[in-house]
Amino acid sequence: MRKVTLEQIFNHPITQKYLKRSGIAHAVAVAEHAFRFAQKYKVNPDLATKAALLHDVGHYTWYRDGEWDYDLYRENDIHAIKGASRAHKLLIRIGEDRHAAKEIAVAILLHTDSYLPEGDLHLKPLQYVVSLADETDEEVGGKHHYRQIDEQEALERLRIIDGKIDGNYNCSGRVV
Ligand SMILES: [Fe+2]
Repeated sequence: MRKVTLEQIFNHPITQKYLKRSGIAHAVAVAEHAFRFAQKYKVNPDLATKAALLHDVGHYTWYRDGEWDYDLYRENDIHAIKGASRAHKLLIRIGEDRHAAKEIAVAILLHTDSYLPEGDLHLKPLQYVVSLADETDEEVGGKHHYRQIDEQEALERLRIIDGKIDGNYNCSGRVV
């Protein structure tokens, strides 16, 4: 049995605060992609989906004159660093296993290389799955951050992933 579920993470006020900033719809979609890729690349789906759900909690709002300023963002953004730290603090606070919390935080830290000097990152499979899941849901111009979703729908979709991870689903995807 897992110590912490996606539902618990999602319902926490800290998650709510920061996911509303970066987009709940995007976070949920990335968690779903991460579950799929975790199976394909044989990585732990619990760690992959938690990192996916929390990967953008480090975002700051780069507004100038009421509009998002992409130049400011590209020059100054460190959301992966902030997100890794925020997610780690939250996970420990709600009782996550320490080793799992570290793995998740490092996957968040490395989900993008946009803030790093040029070079090749050699990602571990878990880190690769999270960055691939994020990339899969990205839309031109950062539109994925603005997609809307009903909170109840978000919660239900996360419960489905929780259920699959806990093995409550049979092969056809139906509750058994
Ligand atoms: Fe993202």
